[in-house]
Amino acid sequence: QDVERVEALIAQMTIVEKAGQLNILGDPFRFRPQNVNPLDGQGDPERINQMIREGTVGNLFNGVGADAGRRIQTIAVEESRLKIPLLFAADIIHGLFTVFPVPLGEAAAFDADLALRTARAAAIEGAASGIHQTFAPMVDVARDQRWGRVVEGAGEDVLLNERLAAARVRGFQGDKGLADRDALLATPKHFVAYSAAIGGMDYNTTDMSEATLRGTFLPPFKAAFEAGALSVMSGFNDLNGVPTSGNHRMLTEILRDEWGFTGFVVSDYTSEQELIAHGFAEDGRDAARIALLAGVDMSMVSGLYLEHIPDLVAKGDVPMARIDQAVRRVLLAKAMLGLFDDPYRGCDPVREKAVVNAKAHHDLAREAGVKSIVLLKNEGGLLPLNRDGQKIALIGPFAADLDVFGPWTIWGDETRKVSLEAGFKAAMSDPSDLVIVQGSDVEAALDGGIAAAVAAARGADVVVLALGESSKMSGEAQSRTEIDIPAPQRALAEAVAATGKPVVVLLRNGRALELSGAVKDADAIVVTWFLGSQMGHSVADVVFGTVSPSGRLPVSFPHRSGQQPFYYDHKTTGRPANNALATQEYVARYRETTNTALYPFGHGLTYGEVRYGTVQLSSATMDGNGRIEASVAVTNSGSVPVEETVQLYIHDRVASLTQPVRRLRDWQKVRLAEGETKTVRFTLTRQQLEFINQQGRPTVEPGLFRLWLTSSAQAGEPVEFRLNR
Ligand code: IFM
Repeated sequence: QDVERVEALIAQMTIVEKAGQLNILGDPFRFRPQNVNPLDGQGDPERINQMIREGTVGNLFNGVGADAGRRIQTIAVEESRLKIPLLFAADIIHGLFTVFPVPLGEAAAFDADLALRTARAAAIEGAASGIHQTFAPMVDVARDQRWGRVVEGAGEDVLLNERLAAARVRGFQGDKGLADRDALLATPKHFVAYSAAIGGMDYNTTDMSEATLRGTFLPPFKAAFEAGALSVMSGFNDLNGVPTSGNHRMLTEILRDEWGFTGFVVSDYTSEQELIAHGFAEDGRDAARIALLAGVDMSMVSGLYLEHIPDLVAKGDVPMARIDQAVRRVLLAKAMLGLFDDPYRGCDPVREKAVVNAKAHHDLAREAGVKSIVLLKNEGGLLPLNRDGQKIALIGPFAADLDVFGPWTIWGDETRKVSLEAGFKAAMSDPSDLVIVQGSDVEAALDGGIAAAVAAARGADVVVLALGESSKMSGEAQSRTEIDIPAPQRALAEAVAATGKPVVVLLRNGRALELSGAVKDADAIVVTWFLGSQMGHSVADVVFGTVSPSGRLPVSFPHRSGQQPFYYDHKTTGRPANNALATQEYVARYRETTNTALYPFGHGLTYGEVRYGTVQLSSATMDGNGRIEASVAVTNSGSVPVEETVQLYIHDRVASLTQPVRRLRDWQKVRLAEGETKTVRFTLTRQQLEFINQQGRPTVEPGLFRLWLTSSAQAGEPVEFRLNR
């Protein structure tokens, strides 16, 4: 029925109406005030009203609100000739009104079910606010921490990205079909390899082998499509000389012909227009032609499709069949979303009021926040702090501030933010035991700030330093050359540490950071990311020991910024360094530091004491089609219950394409009571030993493998097995 309905519409549409359905513009009605573009009227509500009536815009984005959504939709379905409903999209990345941890933070939970549940809650709030599509999840594997958008994804590992991509798609779209009132169409982005920007500089060129493309950057997209995502966003980047928004091989040969993707491709904000600046298209008309023929179905913001499609078709530069194909994909998505049956789907102010900021969503935000926190270091068991009778000086630019949401939270409810100060006070028996001193701005010193901080530290039993990056320091276009903590905050840390008081550092960050000096040497270090609405409570839950921390790093913290790009699954090289040695020449390392992470991928402590036994294999060989069972006894010899993330890594010792030193192939989260030992078992299959060969095809080669069951990418001792033919 959907198909017939769509074909009947296409048969009636003028070429201008077709171009209108392929045009998505910013919503000027509900979004924060925009500048009106004098050339095309974008940003002007009256002009957009007119375009909706004429059928020259079929889709709007980043306007949220059920009431206004109804009014705008009414224009489309009552005043336009063909009465085709509008599609409303938005960047609902980690929550809408209720804000959940940034995706990188949430990735630290290594918990696909949690990612699904927060995406589901975000979809429920979004759909009730009149949104049909989210521009999420971002599934770009991020291996260079200078890149600002690391914060938006699941970090450096392929498997973690794959599993969370699938979970987030399922969470956004739900399991009742896209027409369900709580479903949002998911849009994995940015297709493809956008995160591999050279030097970590946003929008920069990417250049890589077929094996890296297919082995590292494509798999999370594939996982997202296998989970049912029916739209995708093309990237800004030039990939091996062909910009991805004009890349026929990626957008048609791989996406459609190889993978059978049936949804629609939307360009990133003017990315098809940027083909001109890339030097890949002569002018706007040429850019529209190239993008269309490559496979971009919907053009975001540039207006180039609307402007040029009629002439491109009239002159035979783009076949009408290609336009119809793109329109069909967009209209089918509208049909699957149920918009032809109920164009006001989700535009329900009563339901909006009921679900937005629901208690269950805030409870989930607190839970997700707790699970995202990573304890890097805890010397002398300084943490957890005593909520009773301990004098605490909470010092730093993030002690009492409300910068807790992180990037991409346009609609987060400002009135529901919980600062660290508020979280600590709520957790402490006597809030007057807490002294707050800002000490420094994020990137600038404060007059008298250090003196006040030192005085507060002297009067306290323990100092908690809240340091790191502001939300503006990561996200789109926020690449950094040095991934350190800004100098004024480091000076603050040095002065406070000099008092000799025990110091806990709470890091707020949207990427892995370089830690140095008093920050690195603090007694305890906790990564708290941007945890969203309930940040203060989540942090207090861990700091005061209501819950033992369980998060694991989804990105490696390097010793030095200059190690970037750094990721644990790098190749061995012909001259691997002995990282146990402080200095070593003529091997693959830098003069200043070993080729390791300060805190590796997968690392994270608990308040217990977890020990691993020796890894056991069911057999020293795996037959061609066989399996091996690997197991390890894990003991919590501490005095509190913990959750341990047991990670399975392999190394393919000899292959026709050199292989990474380790690759994560699976993990399990296991709860251990005080003093408890559990044997954790994994079944390793032949398929988990696959790699992408020089021809770009998955392959498994017989030979020697190493296997670890351990607590991080740098921990543990391997056992060996042989894969037989
Ligand atoms: O979805 C985003 C994208 O990630 C970056 N450019 C703008 C888009 C729409 O807001």
